[in-house]
Amino acid sequence: MQALLEAVRPGDEEDALARAIDPERLPAHIAVIMDGNGRWAKRRNLPRVAGHKAGMRAVRTVIETCSQMRLKALTLYAFSVENWKRPRTEVEMLWRLLRAYLHTELAEIERQEIKLTAIGRLEALPNQVRAELEDAIAKTAGNRGMQLNLAINYGGRAEIVDAVKALVEKAKHGDIVIDEQAISSHLYTAGIPDPDLLIRTSGEMRVSNFLLWQIAYAELYVTPTLWPDFTRADLLRAILDYQRRDRRFGGLAGSRETTSRETSSRNPRAEVTGVEALGMPTR
Ligand code: FPP
Repeated sequence: MQALLEAVRPGDEEDALARAIDPERLPAHIAVIMDGNGRWAKRRNLPRVAGHKAGMRAVRTVIETCSQMRLKALTLYAFSVENWKRPRTEVEMLWRLLRAYLHTELAEIERQEIKLTAIGRLEALPNQVRAELEDAIAKTAGNRGMQLNLAINYGGRAEIVDAVKALVEKAKHGDIVIDEQAISSHLYTAGIPDPDLLIRTSGEMRVSNFLLWQIAYAELYVTPTLWPDFTRADLLRAILDYQRRDRRFGGLAGSRETTSRETSSRNPRAEVTGVEALGMPTR
């Protein structure tokens, strides 16, 4: 957080927003659906690809700011399994932007000690994109800072299918327990905490097949701002909004401190006070 406070200009809006954030209650993991590049371009009578190019500024800003706050992880939805349906020129431009990002920003990623990872069906990426991505991932693998996780050729349902396939394969070689932990640990995101905050730009109220399992208890923040216009101040506003939420995880207000499960394991009689004891769904 100190790095962010040093980066903002004293006295301006970003400074006030950064100071209003409680550094003890930062989300560990933010996930972002970067939407609205096409609309941004259309409003300016520009080709859609110009919107993606303009979106790269917001990509850099969000990565740098989350890294300065020392978040554990940031996941950006860069390319979905459905995005292949777009015109070939647009898909090619997205690959070009990803490669350009890796070329120009690798030194900065290293400087910020960011560990780069990627999730999705990466085997289907064009060879050169895949090779350069894997190279950057390998180069940053030992970094101790924030994990920057790019979702590329990613689909939430495809991910669950892949996890189930891996579990079935394991079951052929011995007994396995199928529980939530088993599924989580076979997702592409194994080892990364679930997102606490999911940000979507450009106003659509959808999750678009993004981290379907992992966002079970994420706080959703949708802003009408189009992705290329999303600024550091917008990100800080999203985090402040998140910090005002009462996260109950299916329990009652403040139940994170002492959950009914924790209470009942210490004192079996306390079980009757839990919502579960009333036979109500703990949603
Ligand atoms: C959605 O806007 C955006 C995308 C499908 C691509 C986002 C990708 C980038 C900004 C580049 C990613 C690169 C890195 C390094 C992370 P849209 O085209 O669906 O917008 P629209 O809904 O207004 O048409």
